[in-house]
Amino acid sequence: MRRQPSVEEIVGGFDRGDVRALARALTWIDDGDPSGRRLLGRVFPRTGRARIVGITGSPGSGKSTLVDAMALRLAQAGRRVAVVAVDPSSAFSGGAILGDRIRMFASTQLPGVFVRSMATRGHVGGLSRATEDACDLLDAFGFDEIIIETVGVGQDEIEVVSVAHLCLVVLVPFMGDDIQAIKAGIMEIADAYVVNKADRDGADRLEAQLRGMLSLYDDGARDIPIQRTVATRGDGVDELLATLARLWAERKDERTGRDERLRRRVEGLLRDRLFEEWIAGPGAATRVDSALERVRSRELDPHGAVDALLASTAASLDHVAIATRSAEEALAFWRDALGLAVSHVESVPSEGVRTTFLPLGSTHVELLEAEGEGPLPAFLARRGPGLHHVCVAVSDIHAALERLRGLGMKLVGEAPRRGAHGKLVAFVHPSSAGGVLVELSQDAPTESAS
Ligand code: CO
Repeated sequence: MRRQPSVEEIVGGFDRGDVRALARALTWIDDGDPSGRRLLGRVFPRTGRARIVGITGSPGSGKSTLVDAMALRLAQAGRRVAVVAVDPSSAFSGGAILGDRIRMFASTQLPGVFVRSMATRGHVGGLSRATEDACDLLDAFGFDEIIIETVGVGQDEIEVVSVAHLCLVVLVPFMGDDIQAIKAGIMEIADAYVVNKADRDGADRLEAQLRGMLSLYDDGARDIPIQRTVATRGDGVDELLATLARLWAERKDERTGRDERLRRRVEGLLRDRLFEEWIAGPGAATRVDSALERVRSRELDPHGAVDALLASTAASLDHVAIATRSAEEALAFWRDALGLAVSHVESVPSEGVRTTFLPLGSTHVELLEAEGEGPLPAFLARRGPGLHHVCVAVSDIHAALERLRGLGMKLVGEAPRRGAHGKLVAFVHPSSAGGVLVELSQDAPTESAS
């Protein structure tokens, strides 16, 4: 097997315009190889120049022929063109169908035209993220025009073409239910429609239907062009390219000003990354399974399941509290015999206790001693010294209390109050917590919290 080229070598290949380096880089993206991401970091400053056009439409609408004709014209005009053919179902076919079809492209015979299929291996964030990365590489490599073509018109395809600056939706006369078959999502992304195979009967009817539909959807702010083509003969292709050029010019401010595509992309990556990190946490996958089971049995609704999953992740053991008659006596064990250090001593008049904290691993032992008016003497009289409460740290105590209340848990007091260390604390009654008093505490108390 050949040695893997380094990221540096591929960057060098980009500098020389070596198409083999580009092909290798795209394979990294295809496979979700971390080298792909490192390369992207190196070449991203070179991006932002290419025009990216997405083309979608039903199978049989002649998209490929149209793309081929467009690539041909653009290349003849001296533009460097990359075509990315994307098939979300290629996970099953291994991309073989696309591979075969790509070899039939006439435009690939021209220098300056590069055609590549995208498979669906190893993409955590889905195919659209991989397509975005691939477009960056093609942009950085120096292509002026990038055409993303999808095989079908499903939800995945819509996501893939929305990666583009401009989206074309290709329709043909008399295909099944005609316009009814168009999914709502496509209406929102289409910048222009193409009525291909326009030499067929029914082209007039299709265009009339389209205009009728656009008048329903459109608020009038956007004039969405409809272009007729006969891609096999190249008819209407020049006009279509002129329409794209006009739309591109109109979008210039939008692109350079606030590029919503970049915002969507960064936010999407952040979502993916947060999820990946969360799901990789200890026991997370198992907890998802058990939450899912509770949703299946209709015990929890999906939102409740997510609340529970997030709450269980955010919670950690803050400290274990022991009721003593004399903290000093208890320190003979915890401090002197066990060797723990006292980190904090505080009087908490609201609870009628004096607390002594000793760090233990990532948690603490809290020794409680009665001081002033409070429930501790009654506790000692009833149960004697021993475990008093377990404290669970939560990220949002108000949300935690609301959730517990919703689940019918018995709380001690309604609102959180200030406990030791100035933290916001609240208590869950032992009858709801297996016989142990549970303290909830929020690590960073907010002054605005009420
Ligand atoms: Co406590």
